Amino acid sequence: MNAVQDALERGRALIEKAGSVAELRAVEPEAFGKRSELAAITATLRDLPPVERRDLGRAVQVARARLEELFDERSTELGAREARRLVEAERLDLSEVAGLFATSGGPLAGSLGRPVPEGHLHLVTQVRDELEDIFLSMGFEVAEGPEVEDDWHNFEALNMPPHHPARGMFDTFYLDVGEPESILLRTHTSPVQVRLMESRPPPIYAVVPGRCYRRDTPDARHLPVFHQIEGLVVDEGINMSHLAGALEAFTGAFFGPGRHVRLRPSFFPFTEPSAEFDVTCWVCGGVGCRTCSRSGWVELGGCGMVNPAVFEAVGVDAEKYTGFAWGFGIDRLAAARTNLADLRELLDNDIRFLSQF
Ligand code: DAH
Repeated sequence: MNAVQDALERGRALIEKAGSVAELRAVEPEAFGKRSELAAITATLRDLPPVERRDLGRAVQVARARLEELFDERSTELGAREARRLVEAERLDLSEVAGLFATSGGPLAGSLGRPVPEGHLHLVTQVRDELEDIFLSMGFEVAEGPEVEDDWHNFEALNMPPHHPARGMFDTFYLDVGEPESILLRTHTSPVQVRLMESRPPPIYAVVPGRCYRRDTPDARHLPVFHQIEGLVVDEGINMSHLAGALEAFTGAFFGPGRHVRLRPSFFPFTEPSAEFDVTCWVCGGVGCRTCSRSGWVELGGCGMVNPAVFEAVGVDAEKYTGFAWGFGIDRLAAARTNLADLRELLDNDIRFLSQF
């Protein structure tokens, strides 16, 4: 009977010592199975007299039942602990996804995880939006036109008939559509002037932002894909001082007082007289550097009084109406504002660069 008691205690100790389900299974034969002390005692039973055999046999059964009970309890406990550990280890980290919710203002806003950095509009888009706001506040409407144009709108109606030397100012991408060199990627936003005047009678006070294309090799001041904002005013009694006033109002609103601009006589077939609109180089402050080709000035665009030949092409009465127009480079305006030395940065899509703005 003492041996049964010892066997029970030893079995209990083995079961309690097991630290995992696997360890527990491994100690089972020794605790109350084939290799246990209880099994050894059972083997001696048949040599005992009947009464002792019965009493000892019962004691062994009770002890074995108790150990089985302890075994099952321990097994449940260890199994649950291991399941918890597994769940913990395989838990999906949803905090990054949650960050999207946290910053988007949706129904889950702020309720999940830590925020991830949000993207923002490209610098050029920001400047375009700001230019639209400025001109809207000055009473202009914002219009748009197609990037794929025909020769008439991009050149001919703008007083550049076929073979006109001024076409050389615009190195053009032609599309393989229709007659050779009849369909192209617009080289400036000026064709939208033509579309506006074709579509309705004056007065017109409009700006046209948009993408333009030229076969230019990229450098600090040139991109083959760039952006312009066209301006067009057609009304009775418009003269050059209105153009100068509009430009002054615009530069004051966009640059503030600190930036020098100038109008320099120039030539465009669609304006007469024509001027180019320059700003002091933002990299060297006017001393002369690589960005401004050592001139101290950077051209932002062209402008002038609408050439009567253009009015004639679109059927506007040039005796009754006059107008002015301009086309500015949005990328250059963006560069001038942020002191950007090389326009190519705007196309590189380097997040370290773009995230500064
Ligand atoms: N379209 C010209 C260019 O891209 C710029 C320009 C000059 C636009 C004079 C105008 C203008 O509207 O009047 O070089």
